[in-house]
Amino acid sequence: MEVISNSLFVLFVCSFLSLSQQCTNPGYPFENHLSSKTPYRFVSNQSFDRILYEGCIPQKIWMLVRHGTRYPEYGFIEKMTIRLPEIKDLILQNKDLPNEYVKSRDVDVFQKWKPYVQLADKKKLVHEGEEEMLLLAERMQSRFPELFDSVYSNTSYKFKYTYSQRTHKSALYFTSGLFGRAAAKDIWFPEPSRKDPILRFYKLCTRWENDVKQNSAAQQERIIFMNGAEMSKTVQEINERLKMKKTLLETEDIIMMYDMCAYETAWNKLAKSPWCSVFTVDNLKVLEYAADLKHYWRDGYGFELTYKQACPAFGDMMNFLESKSRFPRVNVYFTHSGTLLKMLAHLGLYEDDEHLTAKNFDHMLTRKWRTSLIDSFGTNLAFVLYSCDSVDKLLVLHQEKIVRLPPCPDSDLCEVDKIKEFYGESLDSCDFQGMCNSTYTQRDVGEA
Ligand SMILES: *[C@@H]1O[C@H](CO)[C@@H](O)[C@H](O)[C@H]1NC(C)=O
Ligand SMILES: *[C@@H]1O[C@H](CO)[C@@H](O)[C@H](O)[C@H]1NC(C)=O
Ligand SMILES: *[C@@H]1O[C@H](CO)[C@@H](O)[C@H](O)[C@H]1NC(C)=O
Repeated sequence: MEVISNSLFVLFVCSFLSLSQQCTNPGYPFENHLSSKTPYRFVSNQSFDRILYEGCIPQKIWMLVRHGTRYPEYGFIEKMTIRLPEIKDLILQNKDLPNEYVKSRDVDVFQKWKPYVQLADKKKLVHEGEEEMLLLAERMQSRFPELFDSVYSNTSYKFKYTYSQRTHKSALYFTSGLFGRAAAKDIWFPEPSRKDPILRFYKLCTRWENDVKQNSAAQQERIIFMNGAEMSKTVQEINERLKMKKTLLETEDIIMMYDMCAYETAWNKLAKSPWCSVFTVDNLKVLEYAADLKHYWRDGYGFELTYKQACPAFGDMMNFLESKSRFPRVNVYFTHSGTLLKMLAHLGLYEDDEHLTAKNFDHMLTRKWRTSLIDSFGTNLAFVLYSCDSVDKLLVLHQEKIVRLPPCPDSDLCEVDKIKEFYGESLDSCDFQGMCNSTYTQRDVGEA
């Protein structure tokens, strides 16, 4: 993790180098703490090199891909349109600006800033998201040319997306990356479904919906943290930094500014968002932790049911890779953060020794569960089947980086037999109906 953070640091610095002198300013937050609104370029693996293992030949690949960078949801666009201009005016009333944080360039951009996202564009894929998908596809094809044939065939490839514009468009740009724009027009996709049992299994899990997602008790840690000492200190510091006098910015305002900072950073590779200038790295770490708490308790290790219910997707992966027929060789599903995070926890990846809670912020500063790294836009998880002298092995890539599964801590390639044994319960007794049956409500919550 340390190494990853360091290379991210460099990447972040350099992405702003061309337009500003911010690289030399220690007050500017360069590190990535943008949580699930992190653009994929901050976490991707830019290498185009092939991944070869001696005596092994890649046979098939199964991938889950979160859609690329998008516009905000309806509620945020509404707030962006009404509240952010008010906050901007409050900030600009401060006669002491520019200061050490909000530089004159930021003041200029603030002065010109006005809401620019239409409600009709809610959650649509943005240009950056298109590019993320194109480039991801190009790199994967270059890593595994024997799998990703550059000529499309309906028998070699299986693509599917969920019922949404952003996953549909993500699929179109990914396939454009593989086959070129002209050929991508003729790709066959199955009819998307609103509650796909594999791509979005949790939409069918009533018990999870009731006990975890819609249950405020399951969000307690986040709520306590939002009202706790670290958050108050953050809000107070920002008010002081901006010399807010009569009207103080509240926690909700600060969250909105953080989200706007993240979105604008994701959308614009070359420009710095003025909304980022009000934060120190320490402020961002606190805001990131609040977001991590939300995802941890809703989509991660907080409750067993949350990750157990991913067994249909895990099973689909094994069935696809282990199927006797040689085709299709490539399976790519375009889906959402909720699916990717539950799948990571199902595999046992990024699990910390303790739960993330409202009380252990300091202790968890070096945690593995950091959505800024594991849940960016365009997040992807790939399982590659290799045949090594007739022994089947799997390679797992997350964000195009090699990760080792718990059954094989000492090698990149993990024998399929070991995987089947380790995840035996998931594969042999995936009782989705049973575990998701709403008649069992209210059992787990509060115990974890
Ligand atoms: C592609 O294959 C699917 C089955 O996998 C089939 O239903 C579909 O009709 C095929 N489409 C074309 C254009 O051949
Ligand atoms: C990045 O991808 C290359 C191959 O394209 C691979 O060799 C390398 O191990 C990957 N980096 C990480 C950190 O996994
Ligand atoms: C849900 O649980 C009830 C009560 O145990 C049972 O009668 C019903 O068949 C279950 N439904 C499913 C889909 O498993």
